[in-house]
Amino acid sequence: MSPLNNNRSAWLQGPSVPCDSKSGSPEALWRLVLLGAPGVGKGTQAELLTQRLGACHLSTGDVFRAAARAECEPSPAMKEALEFMRRGELVPDSTVWQMVKERAGCLRCGGGFILDGFPRTLGQAESLRALMEKEGIALTAVINYELSAREIVARLSGRRTCDRCKSVYHETERPPRRAGVCDKCEGRLIQREDDRPEAIEVRLETHVKSTSPLIDFYQKCGLLVQVEAGGAPEDIYQRTLAALAPVKTN
Ligand code: AP5
Repeated sequence: MSPLNNNRSAWLQGPSVPCDSKSGSPEALWRLVLLGAPGVGKGTQAELLTQRLGACHLSTGDVFRAAARAECEPSPAMKEALEFMRRGELVPDSTVWQMVKERAGCLRCGGGFILDGFPRTLGQAESLRALMEKEGIALTAVINYELSAREIVARLSGRRTCDRCKSVYHETERPPRRAGVCDKCEGRLIQREDDRPEAIEVRLETHVKSTSPLIDFYQKCGLLVQVEAGGAPEDIYQRTLAALAPVKTN
């Protein structure tokens, strides 16, 4: 599992923007989906996994947040998507799928991918399956991170994000060296709008209703790998690698 260079420009800014992802050997290629409640630590694990597996971290939430920051006028569909996001609700499947379909090149990419936050409904999972079948590519595994609701709320309410480079911290669990300042770029650390208590509640309810059925869906496909998400990020990362090891040797 050798690290490859990649960035996410085609994913974050759109398919016309080139990125420097490099293809690896087919045996080293990972195509993963990360499932788990909001705040369980999917983004944190994706960051660690991408360094080790080389696969690109593809988060749909990051694309919506990148669109929210864009200086140009967002499309009406994107404006509507951002309103759903602020309230903690899911963006409609049609908008999400349009956005992912435009970026299908990232799924075909020879560097592999780690999908984070997509799919999130059965409809999205079916669309992804149909697209991948058409492209002749398959998922390697789907990792489901599990954690108690109490710990999830603690992770979400303490999260702080750099408003410049988007690095993620936690007030007590992963604090920056200097309060309110990003270690990497000295940007300002802010709280995400959907990490307010009323939005957290909506997000957790939505997860149970819309996203939990995916666990069954991927279990039936024989792709599901369960990982307990308690403890320090490095411990969960090691647990994830151990859970994935048999997948490639099967
Ligand atoms: P999205 O950006 O995907 O957010 P999410 O799934 O709600 O997940 P989060 O980013 O909140 O959490 P995470 O699991 O990545 O945790 P993190 O690593 O940051 O989606 C946002 C919104 O966009 C959705 O609500 C929806 O509106 C819309 N959207 C996106 N995709 C969509 C789709 N496919 N369909 C429809 N709508 C869509 O960790 C959280 C905190 O905990 C951090 O502070 C971190 O430092 C800390 N932490 C992490 N690990 C640990 C640990 N082991 N111990 C202690 N603290 C930890």
